[in-house]
Amino acid sequence: MLPAMARNVIITGGGTGIGLATAQAFAAEGERVLLLGRRAEVLEKAAVPGALTFAADLATVRGARAAADFALDAFDGTVDVLVHSAGGHGGREPREGVGDDPLDAVAHNWSTNFRINTLTSVLLTEALRDHVASPGGRILFLSSIAALRGSGSGAYGAAKAAVHPYTYDLAKALGPRGVTVNAVAPGYVEDTEFFGYEMSDEEYGRRVGATLTGRAGTPADVAATLTWLASPGAQHLTGQIVQVNGGEQLGR
Ligand SMILES: NC(=O)c1ccc[n+]([C@@H]2O[C@H](COP(=O)([O-])OP(=O)(O)OC[C@H]3O[C@@H](n4cnc5c(N)ncnc54)[C@H](OP(=O)(O)O)[C@@H]3O)[C@@H](O)[C@H]2O)c1
Repeated sequence: MLPAMARNVIITGGGTGIGLATAQAFAAEGERVLLLGRRAEVLEKAAVPGALTFAADLATVRGARAAADFALDAFDGTVDVLVHSAGGHGGREPREGVGDDPLDAVAHNWSTNFRINTLTSVLLTEALRDHVASPGGRILFLSSIAALRGSGSGAYGAAKAAVHPYTYDLAKALGPRGVTVNAVAPGYVEDTEFFGYEMSDEEYGRRVGATLTGRAGTPADVAATLTWLASPGAQHLTGQIVQVNGGEQLGR
């Protein structure tokens, strides 16, 4: 039985990794949780007691609209917390139709990263922004350490960095309504599908060795920051990029 004051929480990418841990953390606090992602079977198997699920590609207008309509119907028109954990580096996305010119691969990499990291966040937010609880609503994006220092081709970090000015503009627009908007930028987080569940000992050691804490981040580390940002204690914190990286990147 949910408490009478349970909040309505939407978590994209809620079937795996950081999104799943975040959903479990909100559910443990007695909130009503809706998990979104593309794979229905992954969402349905997610170990989140009482959670609703809806499968949709949030990088498409059709998918984002369908997910928003489902959420508003299930939550009687009000969303208290919107967490955007959908994303990734794009390496496992379908490659059908990519041409032979090396520039085709570049275009595919950049557009894929923009779609799964940036568009997923922006489309669902725009579909729901008028329905976010005022005051008290929370919108939380997942950025990355890569947005602050790059990560290889530039595409993933750029797609995450694109969320930063959106965070700032949305915080300005929704601040007068009592809604806060922030992004959390993790460093390396283990036990998610992002890198897959296997990594060479050498690579793992390199990543852990770059932290000041001497360990990898966990989905629970990031979930704890997200649930705190959604708590009353964080009501004066908005328009920020909050780093959770064990000190791998100092300051901003
Ligand atoms: N793990 C890290 O080291 C790390 C570090 C910094 C930032 N991050 C960010 O943290 C977030 C969570 O990542 P994670 O590590 O938990 O990886 P993950 O386990 O791969 O989670 C990503 C989730 O996003 C969903 N997703 C991807 N594209 C989608 C789309 N178009 N529509 C709907 N859902 C979509 C995936 O489910 P479906 O494939 O079923 O749709 C998956 O559940 C991501 O934004 C990632 O970029 C991760």
